[in-house]
Amino acid sequence: MNVRITAQDPLRLPCDWLLVGIADGDVPEMFDNALGGLLRELVERGEFDPNGREVTVVHPRGAIPARRLLVVPMGRERTAEAVRRAVALGGRKAKRLGGGHVVIAPLQEIADADAASAYAQAVAEGLFVGTYEFESFRRKQEGRGGPLTDVDLLVAQEDQVAGAETGLAWGRAVAEGVNLARTLVNEPANVATPARLAGVAEEIASAAGHIRCRVLDEKAAAQEGMGAFLGVARGSDNPPAFIVLEHRLDEFPDTKPVVLVGKAITFDSGGYNIKPSQGLWKMKSDMSGGAAVLGTFDALARLEVSLPVVGLVPAAENLVSGHAYRPGDILHSLSGQTIEIQNTDAEGRLILADALAYAERYGPRALVDMATLTGAMMVALGYSLTGYFCNDDDLAAQLEAAAERAGEPIWRMPLWDEYDAYLESKVADMRNVGIRWGGAITAALFLRRFVGSYPWAHLDIAGTAFADSDRKPPPPLTPYGATGVPVRTLMEWLRALAA
Ligand code: BES
Ligand code: MN
Ligand code: ZN
Repeated sequence: MNVRITAQDPLRLPCDWLLVGIADGDVPEMFDNALGGLLRELVERGEFDPNGREVTVVHPRGAIPARRLLVVPMGRERTAEAVRRAVALGGRKAKRLGGGHVVIAPLQEIADADAASAYAQAVAEGLFVGTYEFESFRRKQEGRGGPLTDVDLLVAQEDQVAGAETGLAWGRAVAEGVNLARTLVNEPANVATPARLAGVAEEIASAAGHIRCRVLDEKAAAQEGMGAFLGVARGSDNPPAFIVLEHRLDEFPDTKPVVLVGKAITFDSGGYNIKPSQGLWKMKSDMSGGAAVLGTFDALARLEVSLPVVGLVPAAENLVSGHAYRPGDILHSLSGQTIEIQNTDAEGRLILADALAYAERYGPRALVDMATLTGAMMVALGYSLTGYFCNDDDLAAQLEAAAERAGEPIWRMPLWDEYDAYLESKVADMRNVGIRWGGAITAALFLRRFVGSYPWAHLDIAGTAFADSDRKPPPPLTPYGATGVPVRTLMEWLRALAA
């Protein structure tokens, strides 16, 4: 897709599709006049709902050079999120109906260069995230539409072009990181193995001068003393990989790095505490946290973010075999603490425990971990909200602001000290599960036992990482499958830290 930014007049540009936004009570006069009042009529007759989710195709029949209009709903306010949604909806519609050359008329008033940048970023995210399709395992089918070949992103004035170019470059790089994460999650577990994730990490690093990658194999992880991580990995014939990514560490030898940790269980059968068969296939998405870390580094590879960042991705598969760990086993974690396994399905916290202990050597400025950690979080908050826990109010405020800008809602949950008692074991330093009630909280409290004295947040993305067909309404940018959460939030946060 070739995207240009210009200040041309949309009423004079020939194209296959002209995308025009209508907000509640705000029909754009210029287009309405050019079409003899048609747009106003559509709204007044209730044939187009500015607050809805449907795109209307209009044929101007020569009234303007565009072959067809895509009239997209902008909702009540022309916010960044409204722009992302409108472009995603319109882009998908154009693609489904044959694709080609799309012109995006200005969807928002733009006050200055910063606003122009934010606007173009939102358009780029809507366009690239919104039109993504996971098609690599399907033979090409006839009649399934066509690609968007050229896109003209129009701004109202010439002096907005430079700002918009900045936002476009950023938004596109972030969207590509998001889509990489989505592809890794959508790929089945027979493809997206720990070795594949390690290979992707190495590719990201080798294509960028400012990122290094190191992968600890089983032997190296054993030498480190990662007994919790390796305990989980033992049951699978797919060897584990502990992935370490380092972004601009040499450039900032005196600055503490931000550390990102992502759970990557490439398939979670539950182990001997085996899961029910209903929906089990979805456990191919249990590496979404790790995929988000890789997606974030993919975006960092394409961008200029002046900040040292470390990514840690423990990758393993949780299966059943003659080598698998059992309920009752006691594991020696990298931190030195021992863990009694009372449920082999509470494996995510075990691999994270060793990653958190490994992070200690970097002396983190702040650490954010992300994981499809508990069904309990899905019960609590459903599909649309990521529940997060945080030991520091400043970090919490930063993350909420970043998530708000990104349009990836997060909701704070309590690190309720009292419940730590549920993690007591009769035979080891702790056990790996609490009781059923408050399961997302006890999981977070388990992780806290491996966190040092730095600001830390834990994002439980069990509900938000993968949009199944029963999610309503389907997420506007990612209607089905992997969402790439929380790559956009992390990128907003890192950008703010680097500023
Ligand atoms: N990967 C699952 C959590 C999960 C469930 C993610 C549903 C996405 C959708 C995790 O490893 C798990 O099995 N957690 C257990 C913990 C329990 C044994 C304490 C759970 O939530 O049931
Ligand atoms: Mn599990
Ligand atoms: Zn899991």
